[in-house]
Amino acid sequence: MNLILFGPPGAGKGTQAQYIVKNYNYFQISTGDLLRNETKNKSKLGNKIEKLISNGEFVSDKIVNELIEKSVTDLKFKKPIIFDGYPRNIQQVNNLDRILNEFNQKILFVFFLNVSREIIEKRIMGRITCSKCNLTFNDFFNKNEIEKHPCGKEFLTKRTDDDISIAISRYDIYMKKTKPVLDFYSSKKGFHEIDGSLKIAQITSKIDHILKV
Ligand code: AP5
Ligand code: MG
Repeated sequence: MNLILFGPPGAGKGTQAQYIVKNYNYFQISTGDLLRNETKNKSKLGNKIEKLISNGEFVSDKIVNELIEKSVTDLKFKKPIIFDGYPRNIQQVNNLDRILNEFNQKILFVFFLNVSREIIEKRIMGRITCSKCNLTFNDFFNKNEIEKHPCGKEFLTKRTDDDISIAISRYDIYMKKTKPVLDFYSSKKGFHEIDGSLKIAQITSKIDHILKV
């Protein structure tokens, strides 16, 4: 039942992952979250990652693959896993394949949230994340929920890479580097392209429809 949420920055991978975790009892592994966690250590490695993320550049395969391997080994597929933001290049595809084989696991679904650059700019510029519960909101679309968020306003933060020029560069890098990954999965069984410009609830309903079959 493992699945991959695939799509450009701001496509809504994290948002849909939160929904699937809550309603289908999955674990979410987001490489972005794992990397941001590493930066909190302020170690040499943490500072190196921070610099790359803040410039919108990819972190090296070696670092990302090690983080994925550790998380997967810790989780041992006790629940199905959502891979959010991984794999992003063919080297990472091969690494994931190796890990899955080791645990006798498969990817059953790949959801590609397809969104244009114009749409993601607004999403990224408005994004607010709760550092306590990791829920994501948007200043343009969820003012009410932000006001009422139970963790409290002091935990609501903006990501350091959510700056317009970095967001555009992240989008361009993503499209260039991950095209081979899209080509690889799009011919496989279980691949579903979803119009990511739809409303959040419309996308979840499409995902529901596929997961409930
Ligand atoms: P990561 O954290 O994965 O960032 P990303 O891929 O750029 O994706 P985002 O998290 O920005 O977007 P999302 O699709 O999760 O959208 P969200 O649901 O939050 O990676 C960060 C960095 O880490 C990378 O740039 C790279 O440096 C490094 N990295 C990570 N993985 C790596 C890897 N595998 N290899 C190498 N380096 C790696 O939604 C965005 C906003 O829109 C929110 O405000 C949300 O409320 C809103 N929203 C969501 N859906 C909708 C909708 N349908 N309608 C309206 N608003 C919506
Ligand atoms: Mg995300």
